[in-house]
Amino acid sequence: MENFIKELPKAELHLHIEGTFEPELLFKIAQRNKIAIPFKTVEELRKAYNFDCLQDFLNIYYQGANVLQTEQDFYDLTYAYFEKCKMQNIKHTEIMFDPQTHTERGISFKTVINGISRACEDAKANFGISSFLIMSYLRHMTEEEAFDTLKQSLAFKDKIKAVGLDSSEKGNPPSKFKNVYKASIKEGYIPLAHAGEEGDADYIWEAIDILKIKRIDHGNNALQDPKLVQEIIKRDIALTVCPLSNKALQVVPDLKNHPLKKMMELGLKPTINSDDPAYFGGQINQNYIEIQKALNLTKRDLYALASNSFQYSLLDENEKIKQLQNLTGYFQTH
Ligand code: HPA
Ligand code: ZN
Repeated sequence: MENFIKELPKAELHLHIEGTFEPELLFKIAQRNKIAIPFKTVEELRKAYNFDCLQDFLNIYYQGANVLQTEQDFYDLTYAYFEKCKMQNIKHTEIMFDPQTHTERGISFKTVINGISRACEDAKANFGISSFLIMSYLRHMTEEEAFDTLKQSLAFKDKIKAVGLDSSEKGNPPSKFKNVYKASIKEGYIPLAHAGEEGDADYIWEAIDILKIKRIDHGNNALQDPKLVQEIIKRDIALTVCPLSNKALQVVPDLKNHPLKKMMELGLKPTINSDDPAYFGGQINQNYIEIQKALNLTKRDLYALASNSFQYSLLDENEKIKQLQNLTGYFQTH
């Protein structure tokens, strides 16, 4: 089963580039930039990766991102993720980045986007992995600040496919970003958002009705509301589920209680993703492996999950068909 998962062609649809920052690279870049960090060793830093809730994680995650300064830093971070993608047999990935985490510290939007997108181009050339970028607004900040980020992004519009919404969910409902989402859609960005990770089902209602999102990041709490489940199915919106993230942030402390199988049985379209793999104990394949074991998923279930990952990606129809044919060929011979 593990080999089947490792070689299964897949797409990753929920991944924060800042969350791929492995302690070794973090130390290397901190030293290169002569930035002091409050940990003496890689091991000490790794030990701090023990979280009670989303906010607990975010505090450490933003601290880690602080050492990123130059275009080369963003390039190195992103290229290191693509090297992992190659080993996970990820064929396509949709990468979130948080410009405000960096522009707030005086790093220019241009530095961030040029470093990340140059790594995307090299990964396409060297590994054949395609990718899109999702510019995520930080929901703990104001809508006005999100508008400022939208404005800064316009000079780099050709490099950005979609907008997202992440950071502290509770107390920051999707409706807070109604106007900036409307403006983002007008600029041609596809609307996506985290909803229903710690927030309740009403946040998911807001995300689909007010922000008009095309995919829900996490969405676990949709199961609180049968009417919402039916609406998500009717609108054919997928969920980007992140099992090891859910476990690490105590959203689902024991994967045996994870709602993934229930989602599939109800007719929802979940996908498997790693969210912040450096912090949550595993890349995408480890997420597939652990959830397979916990819920006793079959090869056919795993095939359906990987199919969803291509079907609900932002790839164009021809590219989806190509990827799905390749996946089906793999499933039929295994
Ligand atoms: N949820 C909200 N914000 C985040 C996450 C997450 O899982 N990862 C990085 N920022
Ligand atoms: Zn996330």
